[in-house]
This record gives sequence, structure tokens and C-alpha cells, in this order.
Amino acid sequence: MTMSESLKEIKFLNDLPDQVIVIDKFKTINFANKSAKTRFGSNIERQNISSIVRDAELLDQIDKSLEKNQGGILDIEIKAPNFQYYKVSVMPGPKNLLNTSDSVIIFFKDLTDIIKVQKLKSDFVANVSHELRTPLQSIKLGLETINNGHASKDLESQKKILPVVLQQTSRMESIVNDLLSLSRIELQEHIRPSEKVDLNEIISHSIDLNKEIIKKNNMSCSFDKQSDNIKINGDRNRLIEVFNNLIDNAIKYSEKNKKIKITTKSKDNNFHAIVEDEGIGISKENIPQITERFFRVNPAKSKEVGGTGLGLAIVKHIVNQHRAEMSITSELNKGTRISLVFPISL
Ligand SMILES: Nc1ncnc2c1ncn2[C@@H]1O[C@H](COP(=O)(O)OP(=O)(O)OP(=O)(O)O)[C@@H](O)[C@H]1O
Ligand SMILES: [Mg+2]
Repeated sequence: MTMSESLKEIKFLNDLPDQVIVIDKFKTINFANKSAKTRFGSNIERQNISSIVRDAELLDQIDKSLEKNQGGILDIEIKAPNFQYYKVSVMPGPKNLLNTSDSVIIFFKDLTDIIKVQKLKSDFVANVSHELRTPLQSIKLGLETINNGHASKDLESQKKILPVVLQQTSRMESIVNDLLSLSRIELQEHIRPSEKVDLNEIISHSIDLNKEIIKKNNMSCSFDKQSDNIKINGDRNRLIEVFNNLIDNAIKYSEKNKKIKITTKSKDNNFHAIVEDEGIGISKENIPQITERFFRVNPAKSKEVGGTGLGLAIVKHIVNQHRAEMSITSELNKGTRISLVFPISL
């Protein structure tokens, strides 16, 4: 038995979740553990390492190992077919590891998930800062104009500027409230509400909260309760937040004069609540993205109607907390249908 064959016999090496590859002086792969085969291909043995991982730095490091007996650690980022990130240790193999040649052991530590989370976090901070900076800049500009600019001695101009300052302050406040709401619900997502609530009542209340704005837009909102007196396990305030957000979107992303239709019914121990609009719709590619925080299909349109892209992210977490399911179907220029299915409490 050759040494590289006996490597296969070492159970721990084969079962290791990390990827281990041993190459000879021609950089041909002599041994790959199970994980390496799963990751890079079941037939990688006898192939050249450069055809498996194309990375100049790695090849350099392998040369150093072979020529100078020098080990090293490097980071490798693979972009296609999907993002991968590894910390790779390259070390000269012990003498006689391979019968015919010197060898190099390459050990891959997969850091993809950690790097992805880090990226999400820094993207999030960048997004938050950006969203807050815009209203903050206009508040600052307004106050400067009143403090020592052209409006400093002009009461009429001050009266014009102050409402803008107030409006932008409210905008900042609502972004901060949404962010707090999001982080609170994320922390409690695993705790299922134990209170029994009547969803029909919650929906009626949410419609009431939006009555004025519906009227202002010449829209209407119908509510068809096909089942009554059904209770689910729920958190009333949070569920109001859910329907408030869905109705708010139906209004914001519809032309004036359009209709919103809400239907509830119980079926197979589940309570269904469906919110439908006749608005601008969402294309198929965008549907999976709209529940991501800060995602907006059309940022210019959202800016006009005052959207930050947090509403549906909050909805998604509250729906999860209630062990409910949300499904979205939509057709461009026809409308959107959001269906929520809650388990009925027995
Ligand atoms: N009913 C709908 N019709 C068409 N597009 C929608 C609808 N609901 C959501 N969208 C799209 O999904 C995006 C994300 O929605 P979401 O409610 O999370 O954010 P928002 O409405 O932009 O801002 P916020 O809810 O934080 O005020 C919206 O910007 C919009 O592009
Ligand atoms: Mg919204």
C-alpha cells in the first residue's frame, strides 16, 4: 500500500468537515478527503490543483513549500459559480508521505458563512447610515438657514422652513422606530405568542387606522369575513403592525381610485387572511427580494411615497413568530396578492 492510499484509511482525516488535499511535486492531487471531493468534485484525484482552485497566490505558496520547505496561510475568495471564502494552510508534507515525490498538504477552512454574515452586517450599517443621513442633512440645512442664513430675521421664511424640518424629523423617527421594532421582533421570533386574538377584529382595526389616507387617495377597502369568531395565538399589537404595513403598501403602490380587497376564511385548522390590490405589481424576479430589509423595487418611487424598505422585513419576522406562512403572488400593472396562513388555536 502506498502512503497516499494509507491516507484514505485514516478515518478522522476522511471524516473531517474541512477539506484536505495532498499534492505531489507536479501539483497533481494524490489524495483528497471526502469533504474535498464533495466540495471540489468526486474525480479530482490525479488532476492538477490549478484546475481545481485557480488562484495565483495559492500556486505561489505551493511553490514555496516545494522549493523552500516553507508553509504559509492565505485567504482565498472564489466568486463563481457561487461565493466561497477559505482560509487555506499550505504546508510541506512530512518526508515519505508520498513514495515517489515531495508533497504538499493543503488544508481548507471554509469561512463563507462567517464572511457572509459580516458582509450583511456592514451592508446593514451602511444602509441605516445612508437612510438617516438624507433627512438629517435637510434638517441641518433648514436649521442653519434659520440660525444664521437668509431666514434668520425673516419670520415668514422661518414659518416655511419649520414644517420641512418637522417632517424630516418624523421621517427619521419612523426609520428609528422601524429599526427598533425589527430588532425586538428578531430577538423574540422564537417565542410564540400565547394570547388568543380575533384576527377579524385586528384587521377591522387596521383598516380603520388607514381610513383617512384611503379616502384621500379616492381608494376603497373591502373586507369580506367568510368565517367569524375564530381565535388564533397572536400578539395583537404586532398583528396590527402586519396589516397596517400590508394596507400601507397596497395604498402606496396603487394608483388613485383603485380597490383593496381583504378576505379572511378558516380552512383545515388554518385561518387565511388575504390582502389584494390592483396596483403596480411586482415582477417575478423581485418577489423573493421584497421582504429583505431596505429592498425597494424602485427606490425613486419609494422615496416619493416615503418608503424605507423595512415594512415587509418586519412583517416577515412577525409572521414567523406566529408560525404563520406568507405567500406573495403578483402581476405587473395588475396587482399584488399577499396571503397569510395562521394555525388556529384549539
Ligand atoms: N402591494 C405592493 N405592490 C407593489 N409593490 C410592492 C407592494 N408591497 C411592497 N412592494 C414593493 O416592495 C418593496 C418593499 O416593501 P416594504 O413594505 O418592505 O418597504 P416600503 O414600503 O418601501 O417602505 P416602508 O414599508 O419601510 O415604509 C417596496 O418598496 C415596493 O417596491
Ligand atoms: Mg411598506
